Amino acid sequence: MSGTEFDTSVAHQARMYDYLLGGKDNYAADRAAIEAQLEIYPDLAFAALANRAFLGRAVRYLAGGAGIRQFLDIGTGIPTAGNTHQVAQDIAPESRVVYVDYDPIVLAHARALLVSHEAGATDYIDADLRDTGTILAQASELLDFSEPVAVTLVAILHAIPDSDDPHGKVARLMDAVPPGSYLAISHMGTGLLDRETQHGLESHSDRMMQQRLTARSREQVAGFFEGMDLVPPGVVRVDEWRQESGAGGAGNSALWGAVGRKR
Ligand SMILES: C[S@@+](CC[C@H](N)C(=O)[O-])C[C@H]1O[C@@H](n2cnc3c(N)ncnc32)[C@H](O)[C@@H]1O
Repeated sequence: MSGTEFDTSVAHQARMYDYLLGGKDNYAADRAAIEAQLEIYPDLAFAALANRAFLGRAVRYLAGGAGIRQFLDIGTGIPTAGNTHQVAQDIAPESRVVYVDYDPIVLAHARALLVSHEAGATDYIDADLRDTGTILAQASELLDFSEPVAVTLVAILHAIPDSDDPHGKVARLMDAVPPGSYLAISHMGTGLLDRETQHGLESHSDRMMQQRLTARSREQVAGFFEGMDLVPPGVVRVDEWRQESGAGGAGNSALWGAVGRKR
């Protein structure tokens, strides 16, 4: 399956997120799309930062207490502060991390993701999440699938429409890893915003973005964790997931976040 076209005239999720996080790898269409989204949903910048912070806390939890040393990070995004291997290797330098994204701009920056601690290793796969066979085959060159792996799907699954069977794709990935492996997800949620804002954001993605975004309910997000035990506190807003300071934050992140352990 091919990646996305490199068309800078249409807004793209990776570059919009980069803009929100204060990066430089974005174009006029990405910035215009974000400005329009901010009109609909003023907490969007808070949500982006809260999502990135969730990724950091989840990886710290996985490399720390959970003792995970192998990561498959799908939907990596344009490298920025606190990439998965940096967070994991700060705790366990021997951690191995395979990154996957289908955006040509992320591929162009992949070198930044390949600077690993010498005790560990990183790799990058240019692939579409829906192409699980390619991802698993290539990832097995660095990761040992007989040992636990943490699969991180952070702010990516809402870019997969129901017609592409996102639950089936996640199940296929988790079937390939042994018990004791983990899954971390953040996902644009329904039930977190009022109807008008929700509808505005969805119709915005239809009109202005290369990807169509599908928000999902808490139950649908919990459904990705079939055969797994959810790590407390379960499926909650990303800014509420094991918040280290104890504070929820000053906005509505409108994203569900959860981590589960395969039985
Ligand atoms: C919002 S960014 C999230 C980056 C990072 N995971 C984080 O949360 O900080 C989503 C990323 O998922 C990638 N993505 C979206 N759909 C994808 C697909 N079907 N296959 C691979 N990557 C995809 C986009 O290119 C983008 O880089």
